[in-house]
Amino acid sequence: MVSSRHKHDPLVFPKGFLWGAATSSHQVEGDNDHNDWWQAECDKQIPHRSGKASDHYRRYEEDFALAQSLGHNAHRLSIEWSRLEPHEGEWNEDAFAHYEGVFKSLKAKNITILLTLHHFTNPQWFAKKGGWERGSNVAYFCRYVEQVAKRLGKYVDYWITINEPGVYYYMGYVVGEWVPRKKNKLLGWKVYRNMARAHKRAYAIIHRVRDTKSKKAMVGIANNVISYGTYHKHRFLDQVFVYLFTLFGNHSFYLLTGRKRHDFLGINYYFRIRLKRKKGHLIPEDDNIAGQDRETNDLGWEVYPYGIFDVLMDLADYKKPIIITENGIAAANDDRRVRFIVAYMREVYHAIKAGSPVVGHMYWSLMDNFEWADGFDPQFGMIGIEYDNDHKRVVRNSARVYADMIKHNAILHEHLKHLGHN
Ligand code: BGC
Repeated sequence: MVSSRHKHDPLVFPKGFLWGAATSSHQVEGDNDHNDWWQAECDKQIPHRSGKASDHYRRYEEDFALAQSLGHNAHRLSIEWSRLEPHEGEWNEDAFAHYEGVFKSLKAKNITILLTLHHFTNPQWFAKKGGWERGSNVAYFCRYVEQVAKRLGKYVDYWITINEPGVYYYMGYVVGEWVPRKKNKLLGWKVYRNMARAHKRAYAIIHRVRDTKSKKAMVGIANNVISYGTYHKHRFLDQVFVYLFTLFGNHSFYLLTGRKRHDFLGINYYFRIRLKRKKGHLIPEDDNIAGQDRETNDLGWEVYPYGIFDVLMDLADYKKPIIITENGIAAANDDRRVRFIVAYMREVYHAIKAGSPVVGHMYWSLMDNFEWADGFDPQFGMIGIEYDNDHKRVVRNSARVYADMIKHNAILHEHLKHLGHN
């Protein structure tokens, strides 16, 4: 009798692979009352208040100890410009001391630091001056970058100048649901270009301040990438759409800044989009998956593991190290997160085997947090937060499964069982 059981060999990741999770300051710290999101929350332009968020500003030591206990050897976080420079040109020494403590805590645990300098929020004074809409304001960002590079830079292993410039543009200026809540595509395009200028200058500053003969800084961005697909595989026009959307959505920031100004590619991957031609329209629409009975996360985003393989192979052409700086699922049911992690990591493994130079994966997010205009409902964390129970941390099973992969630097047969392998 032939047994239906079979044993998979471990899917082993490259030596030194970076395993960890990501957060951003406004989403986890709490009380970030000097930035433009806080202002918009107070003005009720955003239907939720971040308040204490995950209370991470006070409890970072506990959180990093948890990450360490789960075997994380890397962590992505952002620092809050509006804390460091709450008023134009005034540096807050307490905030610098605080972040120094944060970095020292990570270093003491042997955790590689991926630092984001801008993750959607701006100091209120900067926003009042026109924020990213004015080219001349880029100089303020550069001044802040220089301060951070000089004063805290020795702790940083990977620099992410800007998180998802494309999402900032799309959500802030096209959809208009996120701060600054405008619907003005042209202005948004200007913002995107200013962010590209800012990255170029920040890239040069960080290298000038931090490079030594023996060690060069690693500087990049966290780029939101989407796996675009055709709706009708055989239609030429659909293929043209996919080409153009991929070029604009996934590659344009590299084209605007020049690929030389990216020492590594940080990519945030969440979903795929199939582009569907809309009768009588020039621009195609997304395939509306509602009613198609697909697996989605709690925000309605399709769970489509193969998409991460697709983008990793596309970006492999740059021949730069790739770090997945975000990838995660909003799911109140943690079993779904377990399956998500195993299924996506398996695709990451296959991409590496197929030649994509992926050197790390940061799950989004280390803990439940403030999900922008959606508030606290979506649960992205591998660590849950009980908001009404003094923000108690609860390590979820998904965190343990991820920890077990880290321990073996591999996906084992045991892990694949979560996907139904016997
Ligand atoms: C952002 C995070 C956000 C996550 C999930 C990314 O676009 O960088 O801040 O929480 O996606 O929506």
